[in-house]
Amino acid sequence: MKTFDLMTYIEAKRARVDAALEELLPLTDGPSLPVFQAMRYSVMAGGKRVRPILLMAGAEAVGGDPGPLMPFACAIECVHTYSLIHDDLPAMDDDDLRRGRPTCHKAYGEAVAILAGDGLLTLAFELIMNPAHMKKIPPDAFRLAVYRLARAAGVHGMVGGQTADILMENREIDGETLSYIHTRKTGALISACVEIGAILGGGQREQVEALVRYGDALGLAFQVKDDLLDVEGDPRITGKSSGSDEKSHKATYPALYGIENTRQRARDLLDQALLSLRDFDHLADPLRAIASFVVEREY
Ligand code: IPE
Ligand code: IPE
Ligand code: MG
Ligand code: MG
Ligand code: MG
Repeated sequence: MKTFDLMTYIEAKRARVDAALEELLPLTDGPSLPVFQAMRYSVMAGGKRVRPILLMAGAEAVGGDPGPLMPFACAIECVHTYSLIHDDLPAMDDDDLRRGRPTCHKAYGEAVAILAGDGLLTLAFELIMNPAHMKKIPPDAFRLAVYRLARAAGVHGMVGGQTADILMENREIDGETLSYIHTRKTGALISACVEIGAILGGGQREQVEALVRYGDALGLAFQVKDDLLDVEGDPRITGKSSGSDEKSHKATYPALYGIENTRQRARDLLDQALLSLRDFDHLADPLRAIASFVVEREY
C-alpha cells in the first residue's frame, strides 16, 4: 500500500470514528454541564484516532467486518483521551497544549478535568456494554475483548506505566526500566487495540498471537517516536508543546540513547512489527501501512 492510499484509508476511517464519537458522546443540560462539555472538548479536539483505526484494521486483517465494532473502537478512544487529560494535569506532566488547544484543565479547571477523565473512562465501558451493541458480538469473544481492554488500561498496563513514568522523573534509569515504562504506559493499549480487533473479527488463535506481536512492537515504537517528537517535533504540527520531557527530566529513549540510536530503535521496531505480519495476505496491508506511518509521522 502506498503512502497516498494509507492517508486515504486513515482519513476515511477517521471521519467515521469522528462521526460516531459525535453521536456517542453525551451532552446534557443541568448543574454538571461543564463535565459533559469538557469531555467533548478533549475528545472532539481532533487526534489521529490511531487506536480505533488499529482496532478496525486488526479485525480486517483476519477477514472480520469492522462495522459492528465502532462503539468498541470509540470506547478505546475515550479511554485514551481520559489518559491524555490526566497526563496533562499539573500533578502529572503539567502541560498547557493538547491537540492544538489549551489542555482540559486549562480550559475547565483541574477538578472538572479530573472528572472529565473519570467520566470518559467510565463512559467507555458504558458504550461497550450497551446491550444493543453487545448482542451483535459472539459472547466469548466479547468477554475476552473487554478483559483485554481492562487489563491494558489498568495497573497492569497504562496506569502502571504512568505511575512508573512519574516516579522515575529526575532519576537515572536503565534500558530495562525504560522499556518497562513505555511498553505499559503506551504499548499496552495500542497492542490491545489490534488484539481486540482480531478477537472480535473472529481471528484464529495463531492469527491473534501474531497480531499481538505486531501490536507489542508497534506500541513501543509509538512511544519511542513520541519521545523523538518531543525533542524535534513542531508544536504547530504535533498540537502539543515540545521539550516537555526534558523540562520534567523524564526517562525517554533520546535521553538514554541519543537521537540517532533512538531513530534506529524505531526503525528496528517497525521491521519487527512488519515481520509479525508475514503470514498475512493483503488484508493486513492497512496494518503494514499504519506501522510505517507511526514511525515516520510528524504528529
Ligand atoms: C499521545 O497519543 C500520547 C501517547 C500515548 C504517546 P497520540 O499521539 O495518539 O495522541 P492523539 O490521540 O493523536 O492526540
Ligand atoms: C503519555 O506519554 C502516555 C499516556 C498514557 C497518556 P507522554 O506523556 O509522553 O504523552 P504526551 O507526549 O504528553 O502526549
Ligand atoms: Mg506523560
Ligand atoms: Mg505527557
Ligand atoms: Mg510524549
